[in-house]
Amino acid sequence: MFSNELITQFDRLKTPFYYYDTDFLNKNLNILIHEANRFGYRLHYAVKANANSRILQIISDYGFGADCVSGNEVQKALENGFKPEKIVFAGVGKTDEELQLAIDKKIFCVNCESLQELEIINSLAEICNKKVRVALRINPDIDAQTHAYITTGLQYNKFGLSLQDVDYIIKNKEKYSNLLMDGVHLHIGSQITNLKVFRDLCGVVNNVLHYLSQNNINIQHINLGGGLGIDYSEPENQIPDFQAYFNVFYQHLTVKPWQEIHFEPGRAVIGQAGALITRVLYVKENGSRKTIIVDAGFTDLLRPALYQAKHKIKNISSESGEMLYDIAGPLCETADYFGKGLLLPETKRGDLLVIYSAGAYGEVMASQYNLRQPAGKYFSDDLLKSKKHKISTLKI
Ligand code: LLP
Repeated sequence: MFSNELITQFDRLKTPFYYYDTDFLNKNLNILIHEANRFGYRLHYAVKANANSRILQIISDYGFGADCVSGNEVQKALENGFKPEKIVFAGVGKTDEELQLAIDKKIFCVNCESLQELEIINSLAEICNKKVRVALRINPDIDAQTHAYITTGLQYNKFGLSLQDVDYIIKNKEKYSNLLMDGVHLHIGSQITNLKVFRDLCGVVNNVLHYLSQNNINIQHINLGGGLGIDYSEPENQIPDFQAYFNVFYQHLTVKPWQEIHFEPGRAVIGQAGALITRVLYVKENGSRKTIIVDAGFTDLLRPALYQAKHKIKNISSESGEMLYDIAGPLCETADYFGKGLLLPETKRGDLLVIYSAGAYGEVMASQYNLRQPAGKYFSDDLLKSKKHKISTLKI
């Protein structure tokens, strides 16, 4: 990912900045699409992972749909080439204005997360005399075996409808006369690395589909969310194993020929295509520890501070010697560390460090705490003479 030519270019740029490798992104997208096409699966890119316009345009060019969680995401997806009929909108707290926007823009489907929301959508649809497609987001009570903060499918997590809610909906179907209720949506969490978890999800989905069909609710769209994890320890050129992932669903999901299967990958699409580049400001001794202070902080990349996430870090300016370092940002917060006890070559002021796997949930989660300036962003095809990619598109 980082040739000498690129490092020379980096040296001229103001740090910190995000660097996106569009060649890698295109390669990843081509493989993802190839695998999805083999199974006939539909893909909605989870915009929340990275909503940079240029990234969105690359992804929408491949024919992806968009999975959005706010009115602004819906708007931005539309502005960047995603077709309304391929946009889905989830989220536990959609405002009436956001729902109205979804109705006005005629997006594909609203993923509904509570009984109250279902009633609100129905009444908004009634006022404008429309039928609105909704998918019931069901909470399957499955442990995604990931960090607690990115687990969404356990009973007490705030997401989705309970099975009791589904029963209520079945019994009161006629109340929702302005809704086209032909989809289910299940998303159990993010950075899932144990594929067995998805097998468990299939089991619950099979039961739910059976139950709904017994009760005369015919489901045509089955949206299985996102969640496929990436390898944070060996990130370079790592394409996620999309084939193994889809294969779990192919093997374990019992669907009828007319039912369509949708996925919403975010991290697995863009995670490894981005890195945060930061410069060493100081190297200091704290007792027995050597601490590198860099010019990026959790305002630029929150994941290590918020989820204790471990991103691989490399010094691309030095190769000599090896030493244990803690790596901290400049913010007035003790949580502002990117790593502790990491083995790096001898590091000095001015060196450039790469924090890998920052393409997903990096730029989008930035803040301006301490009145920090947002990090810059650069793309490989601007910095390097990049090859043109042959684009394959989603069949459906
Ligand atoms: N669909 C829904 C309904 C979601 O809530 C999410 C992520 C996705 C799809 C995409 O999941 P992915 O394929 O990216 O795992 N900020 C956290 C991750 C939060 C994920 C939120 N929902 C992090 O940095 O790890």
